[in-house]
Amino acid sequence: MSFVARRAFSSSSFNPSKVAVLGAAGGIGQPLSLLLKLNKDVTGLSLYDLRGTPGVAADLSHIPTNSKVTGYTPEKGGLKEALAGVEVVVIPAGVPRKPGMTRDDLFNTNASIVRDLAKGIAEFAPKAKVLIISNPVNSTVPIVAEVLKSKGVYDPKKVFGVTTLDVIRASRFISEVKGTNPVEETVTVVGGHSGHTIVPLISQSGHPDISGETLDALVNRIQFGGDEVVKAKDGAGSATLSMAQAGARFAGSLLKAAKGETVVEPTYVESPLFKDQGVDYFSSKVTLGPEGVKEIHPLGKLNAYEEKLIATALEDLKKNIKKGVDFVAQNP
Ligand code: NAD
Ligand code: LMR
Repeated sequence: MSFVARRAFSSSSFNPSKVAVLGAAGGIGQPLSLLLKLNKDVTGLSLYDLRGTPGVAADLSHIPTNSKVTGYTPEKGGLKEALAGVEVVVIPAGVPRKPGMTRDDLFNTNASIVRDLAKGIAEFAPKAKVLIISNPVNSTVPIVAEVLKSKGVYDPKKVFGVTTLDVIRASRFISEVKGTNPVEETVTVVGGHSGHTIVPLISQSGHPDISGETLDALVNRIQFGGDEVVKAKDGAGSATLSMAQAGARFAGSLLKAAKGETVVEPTYVESPLFKDQGVDYFSSKVTLGPEGVKEIHPLGKLNAYEEKLIATALEDLKKNIKKGVDFVAQNP
């Protein structure tokens, strides 16, 4: 349906650049909301959390940019109000890791949080683009998709796992290896968002000369970059500030695409690339358009080293995806 038609059929409060952040008072939610407040494409910002959002919203609302900020909590239908008329919903709600934990260890807590928020989205913002940050992303994206399917409102073009943090880390880490400007480094990162499912395609980065132990160390650092932060924060959580930057970049890309700009970003979506191997979700470069996913790019030419990384990633991804799908089937 065209953008104009969607406007006509939806509520009068529909706002093409309205963004909701669910989990907005948290470690990621606050700086992410700040960055979205600074984005001139955002004209409305809805902040939802279990508590604290009225304060965060009041604080941000004094910044003189062109968006109205409102804070909501679950009381008095807060989720419904927060989701009214939004184009993009970003979800960083959920618990973060502590040292010694894997992202999968968060599943038992975060799966039900994400499922319940997805039910709200199905009811109150069924046409919104949904950006999932809550871990384990490899499983929470299928959870959201299964909930939306069960409510008859799933559009695979509109559900995204945010893997942008892996992409920005890869730019930074490769620049440290090569002594270059990170701003000019672009590394495509594909697969998923945890450990061995994170696959940087260094052969396509413009530095195909990186090899041997240097390559092993670089790939390992990109795959396990999250652990560096978890360890350094020493029990106080995981990446929040770099994640806020990554989430704001990805949400900003979708808003640019909604205005007709062509934007290409790696993101974890329902993908045809490895469906024949039983892997229904995969991150690769995606051209974004007004309706969300416009084109899913193939991986391009890989070397034997990268083929092996992909094979390992697929094994883990298959299990992570099944875990999310089974969770919704057993706990609807
Ligand atoms: P945090 O604990 O600081 O904040 C989470 C917020 O979610 C809290 O304010 C909490 O009140 C809120 N929340 C919990 N249940 C909720 C619900 N039902 N409805 C609304 N809000 C709810 O955690 P954080 O550091 O912001 O991390 C959040 C999540 O993001 C974690 O799962 C973490 O693993 C994940 N994460 C993902 C990436 C990524 O690259 N995708 C990067 C960093 C962190
Ligand atoms: C990250 O990559 O930093 C996030 O997924 C948080 C984590 O648990 O490492």
